[in-house]
Amino acid sequence: MSDVEKYYDEWTSRYLEVYGDVIQAYRPAETEALLDYTLESAQIEDGMHILDAGCGVCGPAVHFARRLPHLRIEAVTISQVQVEEGKKRIDKWGLHDRVHVRKGDYHHLDQYFPENHFDLVVFLEALGHAVNPSQVIEGAARVVKSGGFIYIKDFFPLETDDEHLQKRVDEVVGNINDIYTYNTLDLHETITALRKAGFLLVYIKRPGYESDINIRRNFEDKFGIDTHGGKPEFMPAEWLEIKCQKIWWNNGKEE
Ligand SMILES: C[S@@+](CC[C@H](N)C(=O)[O-])C[C@H]1O[C@@H](n2cnc3c(N)ncnc32)[C@H](O)[C@@H]1O
Repeated sequence: MSDVEKYYDEWTSRYLEVYGDVIQAYRPAETEALLDYTLESAQIEDGMHILDAGCGVCGPAVHFARRLPHLRIEAVTISQVQVEEGKKRIDKWGLHDRVHVRKGDYHHLDQYFPENHFDLVVFLEALGHAVNPSQVIEGAARVVKSGGFIYIKDFFPLETDDEHLQKRVDEVVGNINDIYTYNTLDLHETITALRKAGFLLVYIKRPGYESDINIRRNFEDKFGIDTHGGKPEFMPAEWLEIKCQKIWWNNGKEE
């Protein structure tokens, strides 16, 4: 069992207590506002077939499917505890015909799904757990249709020539990685991996809402977590949305 799997099997009940159904730290106060923003920003449209890779307890998947009556979603999480919680939510809203959750490792998406299958793959604060982000992106590229999309929301460490500040950034990011079993993404490496996998950039942007850090703060206070050396307002990273389109030409191989 991987560290991330162990982490979410153990910690999901604590996230449910504080975060509710959506385990995302960068967010407006209202969960619905976050998910409606995501629908629009990722351009999730009714009738699409999408994959939510790193789906948590299916809070986002259920919300999207309730908003869009012809949307179909496959959801994957590494944690069996989250699969069970996700199934409860799918049952509650009677969405079995359109939302399916399974336990799986997103490093092996192409083992679970056929090639050229989805209109869109989303990673909502999930890709940063990857041991090998390039492998995950390559797998995502295989299961997305030509002309389909990938959408990633995550955080990327600040970069500065100021040695002192950079050291502080690296320290806090290191703490986040240790405490949250994260493997914080590097922006340059992520973009390179996307392009090498056959994706073209549609946009990179900062999410269009004010962040409310209270939920993260409440969670960290409640469970005695200190990633920031007592200064939770220090921002060691920027949060970004990245959207790309799979081009017809993939890794030099015409499709
Ligand atoms: C911060 S949570 C975000 C959950 C969800 N996207 C949401 O918005 O509520 C990170 C998610 O990534 C999933 N995850 C991490 N590593 C994974 C892997 N190798 N394969 C599949 N899922 C993974 C975790 O199980 C968890 O569901």
